[in-house]
Amino acid sequence: MNIDQSKIVVTGACGFIGSHLTEALIERGCEVTALCLYNPQGSYGWLHNSPLLDHKNLRVELGDVRDFQFCKKLLKGQDAVFNLAALIGIPYSYQAPQSYIDTNITGCYNICQAAMEYGLKRVMQVSTSEVYGTARYVPIDEKHPKQPQSPYSASKISSDAIALSFFYSFDLPVTIVRPFNTYGPRQSTRAIIPTVVTQIARGSDVLELGSLSPTRDLNYVADTVNAMMAIASCDDAVGREVNIGSGREISVGDLVRMISALMNHDVEIRQDPARIRPKNSEVERLLADCSLLKQLTGFSPAFSLREGLVRTIEWFRDDRNLSAYRTGFYHV
Ligand SMILES: NC(=O)c1ccc[n+]([C@@H]2O[C@H](COP(=O)([O-])OP(=O)(O)OC[C@H]3O[C@@H](n4cnc5c(N)ncnc54)[C@H](O)[C@@H]3O)[C@@H](O)[C@H]2O)c1
Repeated sequence: MNIDQSKIVVTGACGFIGSHLTEALIERGCEVTALCLYNPQGSYGWLHNSPLLDHKNLRVELGDVRDFQFCKKLLKGQDAVFNLAALIGIPYSYQAPQSYIDTNITGCYNICQAAMEYGLKRVMQVSTSEVYGTARYVPIDEKHPKQPQSPYSASKISSDAIALSFFYSFDLPVTIVRPFNTYGPRQSTRAIIPTVVTQIARGSDVLELGSLSPTRDLNYVADTVNAMMAIASCDDAVGREVNIGSGREISVGDLVRMISALMNHDVEIRQDPARIRPKNSEVERLLADCSLLKQLTGFSPAFSLREGLVRTIEWFRDDRNLSAYRTGFYHV
């Protein structure tokens, strides 16, 4: 499908990746309905101060993917949906797994069922590399076994399966897009890069971190969003799972050293036992094979890790942005 000038719903538009995707779709000429999680303050999350908030092609809805009737109203008359609404923190999924089932699995079911009733031309279910667990082989292609090493991972494996079942059973044009770790402006300090950058930006000489040995495949958010849009525009991607990654791998320890060098600030790293995941839950290694993405769309990431980090650091160093973040406590 040609997504330009289409009517597109983005769920999770108040969040990190969803707010960037919403802006990118508007810049492409789409009419976007952005679903932000209902809250009594009427906040649109990261869209609240977006320069595009008053754009004629943006409509913001407050609501909840757990509510089927609401999802039906949301998708009526639309062409496509990107389902990003989710609970995503792994440590919090140890504490409140039921809420992950309700939001991630039931939410995905509600979106698929409503999309089917209104004949949407495309459902983009946003998965995560966490579904693979610790790599059994690298690079990880889409055939790699799924390993539910956390309730979060289990909920995303399940939501992907629900979405794909709608493709196999009802011909709903579903694609599972599977980003590996994504970073950039607006990310929460639950993630490693904002944790490190915000602490250094506030002048900390000591960083409290979890495990340093796990490796990750890190993607700048503009690359993740552009890959998602390229996949949505590719008809051959219907019914498939598609990795979005960089094909590069770095350990958490080396990443912290790279950030501290880029910020020109030496830090001492202390391990905080509260941040270390249970042994069998920690995903030790993630490295994407993105051959399918390249084959289907020709897409390759535009940002090196260094370029992406420089942009991210610059954004966090701006006091108007940094002031939105609390540091000095462990945020699950
Ligand atoms: N950040 C990453 O590195 C990464 C990597 C792979 C996949 N993903 C996936 O990308 C998507 C977006 O992740 P993110 O990093 O932007 O996280 P985020 O937490 O910033 O965004 C998720 C958004 O979903 C909203 N939400 C939660 N429950 C909701 C509900 N019941 N109804 C409506 N909205 C609800 C939240 O308010 C939040 O704004 C998620 O599906 C996540 O699994 C993220």
